Amino acid sequence: MRILGIETSCDETGIAIIDDDLGLLSHQLYSQVKLHADYGGVVPELASRDHIRKIVPLIKRAMQEADCQAGDLDGVAFTQGPGLVGALLVGASVGRSLAYAWDVPAVGVHHMEGHLLAPMLDEPKPEYPFVALLVSGGHTMMVRVDGIGQYDVLGESVDDAAGEAFDKTAKIMGLDYPGGPMLAKLAEKGEPGHYKFPRPMTDRPGLDFSFSGLKTFAANTIRSAATDDQTRANIAFAFQDAVIDTLAIKCKRALKQTGLNRLVIAGGVSANTELRSRLEKMMQGIRGKVFYPKLEFCTDNGAMIAYAGLQRLKAGQVEGLSSKAKPRWPLDSLPPC
Ligand code: KG4
Ligand code: ZN
Repeated sequence: MRILGIETSCDETGIAIIDDDLGLLSHQLYSQVKLHADYGGVVPELASRDHIRKIVPLIKRAMQEADCQAGDLDGVAFTQGPGLVGALLVGASVGRSLAYAWDVPAVGVHHMEGHLLAPMLDEPKPEYPFVALLVSGGHTMMVRVDGIGQYDVLGESVDDAAGEAFDKTAKIMGLDYPGGPMLAKLAEKGEPGHYKFPRPMTDRPGLDFSFSGLKTFAANTIRSAATDDQTRANIAFAFQDAVIDTLAIKCKRALKQTGLNRLVIAGGVSANTELRSRLEKMMQGIRGKVFYPKLEFCTDNGAMIAYAGLQRLKAGQVEGLSSKAKPRWPLDSLPPC
């Protein structure tokens, strides 16, 4: 089975073609970062319009690269939610229409399921069951995963997502959008021991997260600190250290609670090298194993949607002609595969 995958939930147009036997045949990505940089964040209307401009040329390019004609495709998968409704509608309309024109089935994919399954694009694949820490710009979730669509959400953020906290703190520090990776880069030059940020919600039981207080703490620290480069780097270091520590404490707690020793981290923030190495060390300490996607598949991309869609189409799950975008869509409402 060979399918086309389409991702347009936010500010990246991602297209991929995946084959059941041959793996990923093509993967194209267009990032709208420059378009939104002047505004310091994603402007939904501009995002939708840019997806419209880029989606068809990218699909053509992916089909060329995969040496694929319309008749070679057995299905189309598109991100159905959660995300920006206008942006989702572009991918859903184009994906559903192409499937209709090519007379093949279509399937709507949950964006966070795409992230969660992204490590499966590589070897070795994590075996079920495992605990997944999903850390993106829109969501922070701890999930027990027993199979595709068998998700038990153990905890999530009660306010800002981890990526959102990175982006907002970066903005307060005057770093360019998208701030997460910029802040991480600045933190590399930081020295430990200068600032101590709180580890929110780690002093009480449970697996929920809260990151908005860290952003306020960062704002207050910056206001009362000197403005030289080293001080800024030290603040970035202390902020990142607090986020990573908090995530690591919660991962350890989730593994203990579930009795599992396999951990998956996915979503944009899983591209953070310090987070990867810290969790790697932690998992070695408890004789477990951590899995994460290749760097290019941590942030939004079409390959993860193609992969998740392929699994669901193989299980016979298809989307009717009147499919809708689902800007809000709980992960644990998905059917098992
Ligand atoms: O998964 P993603 O591409 O989009 C959503 O589904 O939200 O995640 C984007 C988020 C942004 O908040 C971005 O700042 C963050 O991931 N991010 C990072 C890093 N790379 C991306 N945060 C910290 N360190 C990084 N290296
Ligand atoms: Zn995402």
